[in-house]
Amino acid sequence: MVRPSKAVESLPRSGIREVMELAWSVGDAIHLEVGEPNFSTPAHVVEAAHRAAADGFTRYTPNAGIPELREVLSDKVRERNGIEAPPDRIVVTPGAVVGVYSAIAAVADHGTDILISDPCWPNYRLMMDLLGIRPVRYPLSAEDGFVPNAARIEPRITDRTRAILLNSPGNPTGATIPRRALEELIELARSYDLWVLSDEVYDEIWFDRPSVSAGPLDPDGRVVTFFSFSKTYAMTGWRVGYMVTPPGLTEGVVKAQEPITSCVNAPAQKAAVAAITGPQDIVAEMRKAYHERRDLVSDLLDAEGIPYVKPTGAFYLMADVSGSGLDALAFARRLVLERGVAVVPGTAFGPGSGAFVRLSLATAAEPLLEGVSRLAEAINTWGGD
Ligand SMILES: Cc1ncc(COP(=O)(O)O)c(C=O)c1O
Repeated sequence: MVRPSKAVESLPRSGIREVMELAWSVGDAIHLEVGEPNFSTPAHVVEAAHRAAADGFTRYTPNAGIPELREVLSDKVRERNGIEAPPDRIVVTPGAVVGVYSAIAAVADHGTDILISDPCWPNYRLMMDLLGIRPVRYPLSAEDGFVPNAARIEPRITDRTRAILLNSPGNPTGATIPRRALEELIELARSYDLWVLSDEVYDEIWFDRPSVSAGPLDPDGRVVTFFSFSKTYAMTGWRVGYMVTPPGLTEGVVKAQEPITSCVNAPAQKAAVAAITGPQDIVAEMRKAYHERRDLVSDLLDAEGIPYVKPTGAFYLMADVSGSGLDALAFARRLVLERGVAVVPGTAFGPGSGAFVRLSLATAAEPLLEGVSRLAEAINTWGGD
């Protein structure tokens, strides 16, 4: 009988998807599991794509993106991230997800290791499974605010390790890595001659102070940084991301991307130019909305005595549900079935994160607060059962 490949058959299902499907089955659940802004793409961005398509800008473009977009992105990363990179080191990707995939393929061979955190965005691990690269987990702890610590990573480095993957601001943790910790992590990578893959797709969503990019702290060309239009401009469905590559890797990632994507959707690249060069109020507006929601949710959890890690960026919050007496997966299933609230169990992000669930602050304030009240009530009620 014909069968799918072993690599695909053995891929685990996404824990996020499972809760989402349960939530659909119960009808009008409150969705705190989704990582998608509840804002619309700005009208001038939509208009730019419309114009491009109507003008016939609908053909293949260069693999690495249209020159006009790479130029404005070179200015963007200099001005907003402090990275000095000429346009020829910017590679436009169909969402950051494909950028990360191409970079992993470009830095690591089959059978080697890449260090990823527990918890982290589940797609990293799935990509590595497909590419035959071993994900080796380094733990993040709630006591450290989920900030990675070089001393805890070092014992996991072997002669098979090729890269350390970082994500700041982080999904699912909401943690931003402070400059000092980033410097130590890059120093660690230097001392073992490793690549650093720095996923910064939430770079513009920070609360107390701007997030720090790993790019400017890279003295010798080992850091790859990933960015995206998805979250910053509420453009998740447009599929445009970009990465800044060190000089020794640009050709490699472009080569890795060629067979899987050829290029990014042409009108969407024009939309991306409009997003970067047009008014930026939506970026500040969304940041402010997520910040307010973060504070409202924190106040509510404090009042209910539920432990959590206060996010400093992105739009997620990890709440500790161990007071319910259930592990995160059992808790998430029961919460959606009995209280109509969908959250993601921490185990979807790593095996050591079973005390936590991830809430998304991308949901509008009213349903968000209703969902968090129900979650707190459930923890406090079930904990006393
Ligand atoms: C940490 C992280 N990296 C990358 C991505 C992918 O972003 P894009 O929509 O640009 O592919 C996501 C999307 O949720 C994410 O959370």
